[in-house]
Amino acid sequence: MSVFITRKIPEAGLERLRAAGVAFEIGEMDGEKAIARDDVLDGVRRHDVLLSLLTERVDREVLTANPQLRGVSNMAVGLDNVDLAAAEELGIPVGNTPGVLTDATADLTWALLLAAARRVPEAHDYMAGGRYSIWGPELLCGVDVGPGASGCRKTLGIVGFGRIGVAVAQRARGFDMDVVACGSPRSRDAMTAASVEPLEFDELLERSDFVSLHCPLTPSTRHLIGVEQLLRMKRSAILINTARGPVVDERALVEALRGGEIRAAGLDVFEDEPLMAPGLVELPNVVILPHIGSATHETRDRMATMAADNAIEFLRG
Ligand code: GLV
Repeated sequence: MSVFITRKIPEAGLERLRAAGVAFEIGEMDGEKAIARDDVLDGVRRHDVLLSLLTERVDREVLTANPQLRGVSNMAVGLDNVDLAAAEELGIPVGNTPGVLTDATADLTWALLLAAARRVPEAHDYMAGGRYSIWGPELLCGVDVGPGASGCRKTLGIVGFGRIGVAVAQRARGFDMDVVACGSPRSRDAMTAASVEPLEFDELLERSDFVSLHCPLTPSTRHLIGVEQLLRMKRSAILINTARGPVVDERALVEALRGGEIRAAGLDVFEDEPLMAPGLVELPNVVILPHIGSATHETRDRMATMAADNAIEFLRG
């Protein structure tokens, strides 16, 4: 009985497997390289459980490569890279890593929000480029996140009120913001508990100064933010995406940012990672990160441990 791990995961996860006496093989050891599709298929054929990352497409071909496959443990909370319908049909259990990355992802959401509002990367480049010659009253002005000098409370609109949406809302309290949210009917209780005003999606877009996306990627959330939604947002609004890239029509976003339809965006995820839509990187009003929402040592260790535990459970039936 053994586990095929597509790409190298943190040592904490490997330790967990060793402690349980579980044999494993790692497909790609170089953390900056993808694993070839053929190597995934080959690994699945030769082992009993697949431990995958969000970079691998676990589709029907992978799931049927080994009729004895006992489970897929995905080291991510998102499962859009796994064909869940096929897995269900084939009776293959699938695991993910919810809960352990909630705080890290909420923190990064705030890092992006503050960086976009206060133009932190632009200011950094300004310094690093040796352009700082004298302080000036209009140098690199951004916008308030809290009420600030105007005393005007800002509205944060959270799209998708699951664990991460809730954690983002909690952090907004420290900034004296009004928080509104939309999400599945199941999330209504969480909104009430967090004193967050539930709104319809369109109204949320119209009222929010900051819109932060926290929904999973499903067929119904693909391009949830497109031309029409960007036009509906305030021209002063800032969009933050730490969910999944395809939730936003990235080409439409580039146009909106270029044309001043919205003020700025903070993005940790992209439609076609690691690529970005043409023109995005040249825009001054965008903050871009390489999908590091859960990237703290503590969190990635917990994710790896949880993924290893899931793999062990699948091996044990
Ligand atoms: C990261 O994006 C995850 O889904 O864990």
